[in-house]
Amino acid sequence: MSAPEGFRKACLLAEVTEPGALRVEFDDMDVAIVRSGDVVYAIEDVCSHAEVALSEGEVEGNTIECWMHGSCFDLRSGAPTGPPATEPVDVFDVEVLGEVVYVKETARHTNGSRPNLAAILKQKEQAAS
Ligand code: FES
Repeated sequence: MSAPEGFRKACLLAEVTEPGALRVEFDDMDVAIVRSGDVVYAIEDVCSHAEVALSEGEVEGNTIECWMHGSCFDLRSGAPTGPPATEPVDVFDVEVLGEVVYVKETARHTNGSRPNLAAILKQKEQAAS
């Protein structure tokens, strides 16, 4: 099965514990695939507070809590919902087809403080041409 247009394969659904998260490393960005109940989320796998992996945090409902200092992020929007983080992280649309999880190549929201995936890809294209 090929990926839907604009999406790329991330992992198998069975590879992600529920509730829990799996770090998926792409060439340009690491993304945490998160399961909570029947919902699968994809979120930038870098805490906006001190750049540690959010995939190693605790998942509860639609929130993931950073293991380092306890910042919480809304998995739907990437917005910080608990201190000390004040900046959001990127989130991505997800498609689950059969047993495969696909993640959209471009972020739905960007944190505004770091280049987003689309910007990184554009820079790579420009560098290659
Ligand atoms: S590194 Fe995530 S809350 Fe500090």
